[in-house]
Amino acid sequence: MSTETLPLNPLAEGLDTVRRAPPGVLVVFGASGDLTHRKLLPALERLSRRRLLPAAFAVVGVARSDISDDGFRDIMADAVPGAGPGWAEIIKNSIYISGDYSDPETFNTLKRRLEEIDEALGTGSNRTYYLATVPDVFAEVARALGKVGLNRPEGGGFARLVIEKPFGHDLETARELDAALHEVFDEDQIYRIDHYLGKETVQNVLALRFANAIFEPLWSRNYIDHVQITVAETIGVEKRGNFYEKAGALRDIVQNHVMQVLSLTLMEPPGTIDAEGIRDEKVKALRSVVVPQVDEVANMSVRAQYDSGWVEGNAVPGYRQEEGVSPQSQTETYVALKLLVDNWRWAGVPIYARTGKRLPKRVTEVALQFKAVPHLAFPKAAATGLNPNALVLRIQPDEGVTLRFGAKVPGQAFMVRDVLMDFSYGAAFLEEPPDAYERLLLDAMVGDPTLFIRSDEVDTAWKIVQPLLAAWASDDPPPLAGYAAGTWGPRQADTLIERDGRQWRTP
Ligand code: BG6
Repeated sequence: MSTETLPLNPLAEGLDTVRRAPPGVLVVFGASGDLTHRKLLPALERLSRRRLLPAAFAVVGVARSDISDDGFRDIMADAVPGAGPGWAEIIKNSIYISGDYSDPETFNTLKRRLEEIDEALGTGSNRTYYLATVPDVFAEVARALGKVGLNRPEGGGFARLVIEKPFGHDLETARELDAALHEVFDEDQIYRIDHYLGKETVQNVLALRFANAIFEPLWSRNYIDHVQITVAETIGVEKRGNFYEKAGALRDIVQNHVMQVLSLTLMEPPGTIDAEGIRDEKVKALRSVVVPQVDEVANMSVRAQYDSGWVEGNAVPGYRQEEGVSPQSQTETYVALKLLVDNWRWAGVPIYARTGKRLPKRVTEVALQFKAVPHLAFPKAAATGLNPNALVLRIQPDEGVTLRFGAKVPGQAFMVRDVLMDFSYGAAFLEEPPDAYERLLLDAMVGDPTLFIRSDEVDTAWKIVQPLLAAWASDDPPPLAGYAAGTWGPRQADTLIERDGRQWRTP
């Protein structure tokens, strides 16, 4: 990484749209772990290089590992080789507390040291607590913070709790977690991260829909035949076999990332683009999704697990051969499902969603396929290369928007076929967008909850997937299909959509 200063947005610099974090302390629980090292610290350093962190700023790491303040400072330095000069300043201010989360002493020490930092740096008792820990301790840490009053700082500053999925293991445990957090923190203090919402192109769904007059009138059952959401990954479960065995693709991707992208696609225009305006409409959209009955699950979904195969030219093992995975595992690494939406805008427009690991290509996209023209005036033979129009929101990796429409093939004959009109983010804006964690960390410190998930959204998303979990855990579960790594999933997923006379796109 270079030591140069990252640019602020030149259009926004000097305007009050540049948001900088106020003085404060970021307290990271799980500070010696992977998320802190790989994502949080590099994101913080980039914020500092963009001059978006104040001088009165410190990181307090908390974890069980026995590390000294200096040991933690070394971790901070290691996480960002070639960091800018501001990072050294932040490292100097930062400290580490080693302790067990079940030990009240850990939190007494934390309180005392936070007060010392307030005194020394003028951080004004503003605290952002980031739980980069295993989810099992979320409630325990929140309660312990409450016991010593760190949920309501005496100095009058703010206290915010940032947590990251999984928010519970199913609807019931999600509600238990929520109740536990709400014993200590008010909803407006809780920032639930879904890193998909930090992606620029996910936010661009809002801009595309609500900053343009040409798309929105078409964005409904009047013109759209169906919607396809694809979240495809080439990676397998990597070193996370133990975690993934208990999660599976439905919990890991569908309940959160797919539901977030879906809600932004389906939602009504909000009155104002602010936190409550957007989140009210998102949750309303999710509430309109028809919750399947348990006995319909076999008909509207397919779950599958990858076998060995070839991905991007490399031979890869099957899921059951991965480290930490049971040789008899029934955990799904692929899900395809069909959802219906009961509201005025979307009635009768099916949503097909699929996600999987070890697919041929890493791609996330939302495709709105339009209805076919009512009458094709050309002879059939002239239009064999013509498909219905499609608008594709390419979320990653090749960020942009594609519109597919028919054009005349040059020549004497009147032949028509599909062409693509492409908008590419990279070409239109030369500026490097902030990464998801950079964006979300700053939002949490600034106190903007727009891109965080509200409690009722989490609950509604769990309600939609809960019947699938119930059916799969039943005594007579629908079968788990297989697919070779490096293919687009099992044959059964094709049948799911082809039954309706439609086809999956090949992104
Ligand atoms: C995470 C999942 O939430 O998202 C991972 O736990 C997955 O299994 C990852 O690989 C995908 O994120 P991205 O940003 O690479 O699309």
